[in-house]
Amino acid sequence: MTIPESLQGKTIAVLGGTGPQGRGLARRFAAAGLPVVLGSRTEEKGAAAAAELAAALGDGVGAVTGSDNAGASTAGDVVLVVVPWDGHKELLESLRTELAGKVVVDCVNPLGFDKQGPFALKVEEGSATEQAQAVLTESTVVGAFHNVSAVKLEDPEVTSIDTDVLVLGDEREATDLVQDLASVIPGVRGVYGGRRRNAHQVEALTANLIAANRRYKAHAGVRITDI
Ligand SMILES: NC(=O)c1ccc[n+]([C@@H]2O[C@H](COP(=O)([O-])OP(=O)(O)OC[C@H]3O[C@@H](n4cnc5c(N)ncnc54)[C@H](OP(=O)(O)O)[C@@H]3O)[C@@H](O)[C@H]2O)c1
Repeated sequence: MTIPESLQGKTIAVLGGTGPQGRGLARRFAAAGLPVVLGSRTEEKGAAAAAELAAALGDGVGAVTGSDNAGASTAGDVVLVVVPWDGHKELLESLRTELAGKVVVDCVNPLGFDKQGPFALKVEEGSATEQAQAVLTESTVVGAFHNVSAVKLEDPEVTSIDTDVLVLGDEREATDLVQDLASVIPGVRGVYGGRRRNAHQVEALTANLIAANRRYKAHAGVRITDI
């Protein structure tokens, strides 16, 4: 697939790029030809994850490199936040300067798990996406990729992922860009899902999907019909 004009010349950074979701997204963006930087709390771990992904992907893809999260933030034009909810606010507070002026894509689902299964946590700011924007006052925060399965993203046998990615944000240019980014993954369509204040229910929906996955032994996604 050709890289959309909006993304040409842009580097995609993935904070928490050593985990399954970050690695999976990075794999798909690199496969589409985009340069990707995997961020980690330690530079060595970021570099090792990048070397492993680059070796798995082979030639003819976007460059895959690794760094610490600060280095990845500096290198990226579009920076995805793919860390657990527990480290979310602290990490972003430490990267205010590096992330200033950038489009930051928050992919974090504030979820809890107990004997009854997954459930959505209450977030003071409303959602992880809104918390990110509250911390990163100089960045443009978009919420996306909450409901797409890491298992599917990481599986090289899965050539097309049958899902939409809901994209939430208040700035049209930024949500259009992130819709384009989602759509470089074969099978995926980026769909505008409302402003940041609507991110909570999209983050929370992941609890429903995990519950469905457990019942049906699946890796469910969402499709929005009639558009
Ligand atoms: N897994 C999925 O299918 C899926 C689907 C949709 C959305 N998500 C969301 O994506 C995010 C990441 O999911 P994941 O399954 O990839 O999680 P994970 O493996 O638990 O975490 C991802 C990476 O975050 C870093 N990390 C861990 N604790 C941290 C902390 N306290 N502060 C900063 N960084 C920390 C680690 O990298 P280093 O040790 O290298 O720093 C880790 O490899 C979550 O918020 C999840 O809700 C996941």
